[in-house]
Amino acid sequence: MVKLIGYKKVKTAVFISGTGSNLKSLIKFSKTSRSPISIELIVSNNPKAKGLNYGRISKIRRKIFNFEKKNRIENKVLSTLKKYNIKVILLAGFMKILSKKFIQNFKGKILNIHPSLLPKYKGLNTHQRVLSNNEKYSGCTVHFVDTKLDSGKIILQKKVKISINETKKSLTKKVLAQEHKLYPKAILKVFNL
Ligand code: GRF
Repeated sequence: MVKLIGYKKVKTAVFISGTGSNLKSLIKFSKTSRSPISIELIVSNNPKAKGLNYGRISKIRRKIFNFEKKNRIENKVLSTLKKYNIKVILLAGFMKILSKKFIQNFKGKILNIHPSLLPKYKGLNTHQRVLSNNEKYSGCTVHFVDTKLDSGKIILQKKVKISINETKKSLTKKVLAQEHKLYPKAILKVFNL
């Protein structure tokens, strides 16, 4: 668990690759007085990520890294995180896999949100697979990141019921609405709040 020291908010980085709707909800949460975190940095592998706009609007520092050259780039990311005194990393739709070495540098300090009820449906294209399997329920999970994909300790989950005429689009929307509430709740839990 992450310990809160005094009343200072813990400096946090959010890693994104795309739309950034979770980033948007995390920014909103981080500005509330009950939030134990402040978002100091947004990292993206994708210069065109729509989510970068939320950072721009909120005047949060944004850094783009080309994760194709992973080893070299990860060292740069680590030194950037150090420079800004980042203690916690929130992955929010970040589509790159971080190396073991990187994760060990932030052991127990990286969280991720995944759009399924883990351990079911790890990996990509979760909603389509859930629908193809005629599941009655799906949901989302916030978990600690360890060195295996979507496998770290679960912090919180939220279940949603799948409707009769559910489509990939409607399920994505339904689950995302829950994700936006779940991530802040999971952060409060991690900080014992
Ligand atoms: C979310 O469904 C998240 O669970 C998954 O990627 C999606 C990102 O959505 N890891 P957004 O960019 O936060 O809108």
